[in-house]
Order: sequence, then C-alpha cells, then structure tokens
Amino acid sequence: MAQEHKVNAGILGIGMSVPDRVLTNEELERLVDTTDEWIFTRTGIRERRICGPDDTSASLGAAAAIKALESAGVAPEELDLIICGTATPDHPWPSTACLIQQRIGAFNAAAFDLSAACSGFTYGLATASGFIQNGSMKRILVIGVDTLTKQVDWSDRSTCILFGDGAGAAVLGPVGPDTGILSSTLGADGRGYDQIWLEAGANKAPVMISLIAEKRQCIKMKGSEVYKFAVKIMGEACLQSLEKVGLTSDDVDLFIPHQANIRIINAAAERMSLPTEKVFVNVQKYGNTSAASIPIAMTEALETGCIKKGDTLVIVGFGAGLTWGANVIRWSRD
Ligand code: COA
Repeated sequence: MAQEHKVNAGILGIGMSVPDRVLTNEELERLVDTTDEWIFTRTGIRERRICGPDDTSASLGAAAAIKALESAGVAPEELDLIICGTATPDHPWPSTACLIQQRIGAFNAAAFDLSAACSGFTYGLATASGFIQNGSMKRILVIGVDTLTKQVDWSDRSTCILFGDGAGAAVLGPVGPDTGILSSTLGADGRGYDQIWLEAGANKAPVMISLIAEKRQCIKMKGSEVYKFAVKIMGEACLQSLEKVGLTSDDVDLFIPHQANIRIINAAAERMSLPTEKVFVNVQKYGNTSAASIPIAMTEALETGCIKKGDTLVIVGFGAGLTWGANVIRWSRD
C-alpha cells in the first residue's frame, strides 16, 4: 500500500517594502500634545514610515511581492493565487490583490483580498496552507499590506502616534513533512467590533460631509481594552498552535509577534516564558504597520541572520474584528 505523503506549505521567499518618508516622534511633538519620551515608554516606537503621494497599498504590496518572488526564485506567471491581507484597499472594489496581480504580471493567478486587519497575514498563511496541503495549488503569494496613516486622525494623540505604512509578502509552495507551516490557530470575536474600527467609508456609512466633520472616517480605538485583549490572546493563540503539533515554548527558536506595542510584545513573551533574545522586535522603526508588521519583521529577521534553516518560529497577530491568528513554522530554506 502506498504510504500517504503529507505535504506542508513552506515559505519559499519573503520580502518587504516601506515608503521612504520617515515620521519621527519629534515631528509628532509638533503636531499633537505628546513627547518622544511618552511615545517610546508607552509603545516602544521611535519612528514610522508614511505614504508619499504616489504610495498606496497596491504599490507597496506589489513592491514587496516582487522582492518575495525574487527571493523565492519564482516567476510571477507561476503563481496560482494571490491573497492580499489588508484593511486599507486602494478601492472598495476590485480587490487590491487584483491590482497587485496587474502590477506584477501574475496573470495565471486567482486573486482576492482577505479582511482580518492586523491578523491578515496570519490568516493568509493559514488559508494558503490549506490550498497547498490539499494539492490544488502549488505557488501562492500571501501579502500583508496596510496604509493606515491615510486613515489616522492627526489630531488624536492616542492613535496617531501608533501607526505606520508598509507591506510584506511571502511566496508559499509545497515542502516535505515536519517543515513549513506546521499549524495555525485563527480566531475572532465580533463582540469587540468597535474596540478598534473605521466606521465610515463603506456602504453602511458612506463618506459624507457630515461624517467627515465628526471624523468618523478616521480610526477610533479603545486603547486600554485593545491592550488587555492583545496581551491575553497572543500568548493563548501561540500556546494552542504549539500544542496542536506537540510542541511547547521550549521548542521555539524565534517568536515574531505583531509589532503593535513593545509592552504587549513583552507581556506575550512573558506569558510564553520566552527570553528576550528569542523575541524579534522592530516596532521602534516602523510602528504598527497592521497586516504588514509580521512579514516585515520576518524579512528583517531573515536578513539579519536571526532565522536559520530548521528553526521553529511562532508568529502571532491580533487586530480589529476582533481577530487573531498564530502560526507555527519550521523554516524550510537557507
Ligand atoms: N502623548 C501623551 N499623553 C497621551 C498620549 C500621547 N500620545 N496618548 C494618550 N495620552 C494620555 C491619555 O490622555 C491619558 O491621560 P489622562 O490620564 O490624563 O486621561 C494618559 O496618557 C494615559 O492614557 P492611557 O490610554 O491609559 O495610556 P496607556 O498606557 O494605556 O497607553 C496606548 C495607551 C494606546 C499606547 C495603549 O493603550 C495601547 O497600546 N493599546 C493597544 C493599542 C493597539 O495596539 N492598537 C492596535 C491594535 S492592532
């Protein structure tokens, strides 16, 4: 009898793109009543990137995608599917995934957007993993991109300090057993839909002058509630994902959490009993880039030699929805 050969999805290549324009805490001091010291102590952020006039989610996503394809040695026309995790599409429709497909020339690929806010990349990896495991697709591009600074209320000091723009992308393909994406844990709790949200701009509340006057087209957030949710869910989701494949925190070589706030990251790492040297942090440079934060962090971790072939990584995201997602990945390439 033929032995069943389980195929996993592995990351074949990864890349990132951020806008050139750096916005420092010192510049924010001139915009709202805040200080570099307050921002850094409460969030760990020193600066973030913000879109220039020509930058959009599609342009940043396409730039990250091209780098990921190069790093994977995969041609655009080999792609079967593009999944774009974003909360900031260029248009309500068509999807930003289709705009990226057009920009990179991946005309053999199906394409759709995935709306899970900051959890978009972890949701995207889990979704792509299913298509590859069931054998229906061979090459999938998963992008996490957001341009939240276009939706920020620049007079609200409790939110405008947090966010930055950027994109990260990964090319997935089949790899052998016990490597690649070993497990995924996804979750949502719609009861918290208004803890961090953008009320206006879609069909229930189209943008109108009256809504703009109330800034309802800008991000609104209940910061301390989101904070408590994040601290609890990040550790839980990671431990569940590890348990699914018989692993524990001791087996983790590198933890790459959503880069929202250094205090949330440290609390999650503590819950998982992980020493700081196993936690990748770059929130100081980019702020919270939403769906892009994990693939940007993974790209920088790889480029700085923090990830080696065979390493066990845990990535975890949380965000609006409320949503969360964790993946355990055994790194399958050099
Ligand atoms: N500069 C100076 N003071 C500020 C400030 C700023 N940028 N933003 C808020 N404050 C003030 C508040 O007005 C408050 O003042 P008060 O006590 O006089 O009312 C005080 O600082 C404390 O505010 P608080 O909200 O309790 O601060 P905090 O320690 O909870 O930190 C966040 C605020 C937003 C940094 C924190 O709640 C957080 O990170 N939450 C999660 C947000 C997140 O990750 N969102 C994205 C999810 S994907």
